[in-house]
Amino acid sequence: MTTLTPMSFAQTDIDQAKTHAGRVAITVDASGKMNAGARRINKLTKGAVERLVNGKEFADLSAGDAISLGYPSGMDAIAVDVVKLENNSDATTLRKAGAALAKRRGDSDLLALLGGLRKAAELCFGLAMRDYTFEDRKTNGKPRKGAVTIMCTNPEAVEAAAAPLLAIAQGAFMTRDLTNEPANVLTTTEFADRLAEMESIGLKVEILGEAKLEELGMRTLLSVGQGSASPSYVVVMHWNGAEKTVPPLALVGKGVVFDTGGISLKPGVGMEDMTMDMGGAGVVAGVMRSLALRKSKANVVGLVGIVENMPSSTATRPGDVVKTMKGDTVEIINTDAEGRLVLCDVLWYAQERFNPTGVIDLATLTGAIIIGLGHENAGVFSNDDTLCNAFLKAAQTEGEGAWRMPMGPGYDKLLKSRIADMKNIGGRPAGSVTAAQFLKRFIKDGTPWIHLDIAGVASVKSETTLAPAGATGWGVAALNRLISDTLETD
Ligand code: BES
Ligand code: ZN
Ligand code: MN
Repeated sequence: MTTLTPMSFAQTDIDQAKTHAGRVAITVDASGKMNAGARRINKLTKGAVERLVNGKEFADLSAGDAISLGYPSGMDAIAVDVVKLENNSDATTLRKAGAALAKRRGDSDLLALLGGLRKAAELCFGLAMRDYTFEDRKTNGKPRKGAVTIMCTNPEAVEAAAAPLLAIAQGAFMTRDLTNEPANVLTTTEFADRLAEMESIGLKVEILGEAKLEELGMRTLLSVGQGSASPSYVVVMHWNGAEKTVPPLALVGKGVVFDTGGISLKPGVGMEDMTMDMGGAGVVAGVMRSLALRKSKANVVGLVGIVENMPSSTATRPGDVVKTMKGDTVEIINTDAEGRLVLCDVLWYAQERFNPTGVIDLATLTGAIIIGLGHENAGVFSNDDTLCNAFLKAAQTEGEGAWRMPMGPGYDKLLKSRIADMKNIGGRPAGSVTAAQFLKRFIKDGTPWIHLDIAGVASVKSETTLAPAGATGWGVAALNRLISDTLETD
């Protein structure tokens, strides 16, 4: 598992910065005004910082970016990274600045002189997030190893402010690791085992196996996994940080460890990307991890449906009709529209068992959402403006793209089946919306619900501000914020 870079917090010590053998970072205001630390590094380097700051390159730099002085004379450092900030830079800019330092440092030790920087913890968060690399499947792979020292005027306060953010980063790392893993490593059983390991950080974790799922009537979920040699599971993760009597928020995730499409087989080109089809479940796991690590004062239950969608002689055929836990029947027209078949039973179970105050599901559900929104925004579908707007606000604050999509009876009627209560697909038009309409049929009247289609954002081909190419951990920060803003208010 990828762990966070060790980060320590200390009082500013210029002698240590002078003899530091790795990289040294300073922040400089866009106006060129230097804080005490930057002035002292400038003095050590005989004005090199000042010359850099007065030059065109610094003028052209955007806030949150850095330029480096290589092998500065007067110091032992291999480089001084000069980060440009603005007076009162916002959290997004500070995170970007931290990420810029992470990218530059590679494996070297970093000593960052932050002085009295406001919200320095946000810079630490960006640094931690962008330090991630997935090395577990390389023979000689190793995560970033250099240490990070943050020097500032109030190290205790910065460390305390950084702690909950670093808990979120650890949650996001878990999401990324799970999402990056190949499907021969992250089998259904391995996935369940990794979730069970979170008992060690204080979560209660239940694993429901196939016999139990049969007994509960989750035929639809089981129909997706029945072509695979790997067993299907539902895993329930409980975090109880509030009074026992407070009903929880339920997070539900699609955990298809590999999606071949089943008998409605996908084309070969790009099929390897379907190792990320458990990304929704990965986000649920990551959020639960963060809640436990930061000892959230909320009650949240995370439920994930873990299956593998394979073609075989035991696989579901197009045209098969299966019964859901709710009792409705579904005609499976296309076995590649499997995510909704997993989610419908888990959504129903979550409501029956927990009577939650709200339900939020996450799934890499449709290719159509990538056509609509690309890799910039997840699709947001909801039956409740209050919950939806609170989520959109949280996502915006965290810099995680999210865009609300329409729903309505006109779309719902596309799911009509001749022989069963509904079909599992609605045809090509509005494919992401009809998928959401399918899920909505399994949400009880009066239960606030959000469906997040994260097919475009869970894993991407090029780096983002806070992540290298591959799994992003999209949603872990936004859901943490939603939970802290709306459920931890006392
Ligand atoms: N897991 C896919 C959706 C997906 C596509 C995720 C690309 C990430 C990247 C999902 O199970 C799927 O196959 N959806 C089908 C639905 C169709 C058959 C109605 C799709 O989008 O083509
Ligand atoms: Zn899928
Ligand atoms: Mn599919």
